[in-house]
Amino acid sequence: MATKREPIHGQWSGRLAFILAATGSAVGLGNIWKFPYIAGENGGGAFVLIYLLCIAVIGIPIMMAEVMLGRRGRRSPINTMRHLAGEENASPHWQWLGWAGVLAGFLILSYYSVIAGWALAYVFRAGSGLFTGLTADGVQSIFSNLVSEPERLLAWHTLFMVMTMIVVARGVRSGLEKAVRLLMPALFVLLVILVGYAWNSGSFEQGVAFLFQPDFSKITADGVLIAMGHAFFTLSLGMGAIMVYGSYLPDRISIAKTSIAVSLMDTLVALMAGMAIFPIVFANGLEPGAGPGLIFQTLPIAFGHMPYGAFFGMLFFVLLVFAAWSSAISLIEPAVAWLVENRSMTRVNASVLAGIATWSFGLLTVFSFNIWSGFKPLADKTLFDLLDYLTANIMLPLGGLLIALFAAWKMSRESSVDELAMGERFWYPLWRILVRYITPIGVTIVFLHAIGII
Ligand code: PFF
Repeated sequence: MATKREPIHGQWSGRLAFILAATGSAVGLGNIWKFPYIAGENGGGAFVLIYLLCIAVIGIPIMMAEVMLGRRGRRSPINTMRHLAGEENASPHWQWLGWAGVLAGFLILSYYSVIAGWALAYVFRAGSGLFTGLTADGVQSIFSNLVSEPERLLAWHTLFMVMTMIVVARGVRSGLEKAVRLLMPALFVLLVILVGYAWNSGSFEQGVAFLFQPDFSKITADGVLIAMGHAFFTLSLGMGAIMVYGSYLPDRISIAKTSIAVSLMDTLVALMAGMAIFPIVFANGLEPGAGPGLIFQTLPIAFGHMPYGAFFGMLFFVLLVFAAWSSAISLIEPAVAWLVENRSMTRVNASVLAGIATWSFGLLTVFSFNIWSGFKPLADKTLFDLLDYLTANIMLPLGGLLIALFAAWKMSRESSVDELAMGERFWYPLWRILVRYITPIGVTIVFLHAIGII
């Protein structure tokens, strides 16, 4: 068995710090922007149920596996996989899993930053009182004005990338860890206020029924894949983000408990966002399948009509920006950690390099909403749609599948018992059965189903 490795990029100060950082990574645009719009596009209840099932059966066990590999390897995901493969007598090709993760993080951040830019833009739109008294039409035209101008999107995207790289350059335990401690609970309180508004919107029951009453006739094979892909996306799994955070986790902390806590909080935030948004959708005769602009076309209606709406609206978008910020840094951390370890770069140079590359690639997304909106090279999808589909629905589940296979089949039982430290009774065998059989079979079935083989 390996001797314990020391982390080289620093360590979390303790259990709470890790939970906050991992929750900061998990809770982001995926919960508040993406979950409602994909649930809306895929018919609601049945989609939500499949998503919840995927979180419980696939997401939590894989999160444990990913944290475990990270803590055991104590390096960037690429080097972690290389070291662990060596230690467990597995093929050195396992390091490709780390590379695939770096690529996925880069691709995701390139569009994530553009959407986070929308949230930034809305901080100012909300704060200036622009939404006050507006109807659904007015709110919709504010959104179309924003996305139709590439220069504006580019400016916000640039600002968000700069913010991200500043934090990444300062290292894992910079100010953001402290900021998350305060801002996550604040975001939660604001969501409660929004659900309260939705409660009185007149269509609360309809909204909640849409979200929680499964109607399986509305779900397609692709919908199942999207639900599973989202379970990975929302928990930041399958690309090494959680692995790299796990590599900064002190030895004594329970991986199972922390993974479950993070997953529960993440799920709660997504469900609250859904409960805030769908009643507003129905009360205003909007379309649940409106697509990526959904929250930007619904929540401003609430802010425009509630007392102190300009203040709450501004606060909400500030918090959304912070949620996106703490996720964005984890998307690029695997790449930066590798550049520091293998290219002897300083964190600052590594961050600048990774930031410029990601920013440039983000132009594809910026233009997808305006000058290239008619360019749909495949399956009637814009470049943004394709990037999102490829990363969330294919790369992350595939990465997660390989993480599960490595953790459960290549790593010795002895190593995982030691690292997870759950004893050998009920919980450890349950986890092992899940990652050995249930998760790989589940992911494979969903893939085969989506491409029409079964
Ligand atoms: N989990 C983040 C969200 O829901 O917004 C997005 C994300 C972060 C995905 C980090 C993947 C990742 F590695």
